[in-house]
Amino acid sequence: MKIAAALTLAVLVTACGGHGKIVRDEQLHALMADDINALMARVNVLVFDQNRTVDELDRQRQRDALQLAETADQLSAAANRIASLLPQLNLNQADRVEFLNLARLLGEHAEGVAESVRQQDLRRAEQLAEQMATTCTACHRLYRGF
Ligand code: HEC
Repeated sequence: MKIAAALTLAVLVTACGGHGKIVRDEQLHALMADDINALMARVNVLVFDQNRTVDELDRQRQRDALQLAETADQLSAAANRIASLLPQLNLNQADRVEFLNLARLLGEHAEGVAESVRQQDLRRAEQLAEQMATTCTACHRLYRGF
């Protein structure tokens, strides 16, 4: 609790200028208010987590992991629907092949993420998620032409 109080004070002093200066820039002020709110929310989570037992944290992690796996499953299903967009896109033969290849890769990566999370292999899940992000941009570049 002491840490949270000290942080709150530090944030307020920094945000309000400290030296008796009046802040007139309303946009900047609004931005600072957002930053303060975000920071306070994070402090609250930290303080809250301090009072949670290891078991509670573990259960929460398991719930989060399950949710992540379900999202990855949905993404993998969506990859099939992306492939069905092909006829609407104005791609040449080589790009069509590449498009379908990338759609298949997206599905495989997403499936891999779901599987790794379920097996609690989070490192593998992270690697696959990174590869997936590369696939996203590669495909967008292909169909947009930039
Ligand atoms: C195989 C190709 C392909 C892959 C892989 C792909 N996308 Fe897309 N994406 C598309 C196409 C085609 C559209 C445009 C769909 C339309 O206009 O109906 C699109 C549109 C989008 C849009 C809508 C806004 C925009 O930028 O046009 C978002 C957001 C998006 N994709 C995110 C992602 C993310 C995140 C991933 C990776 C997890 C991903 N996409 C992977 C083909 C792909």
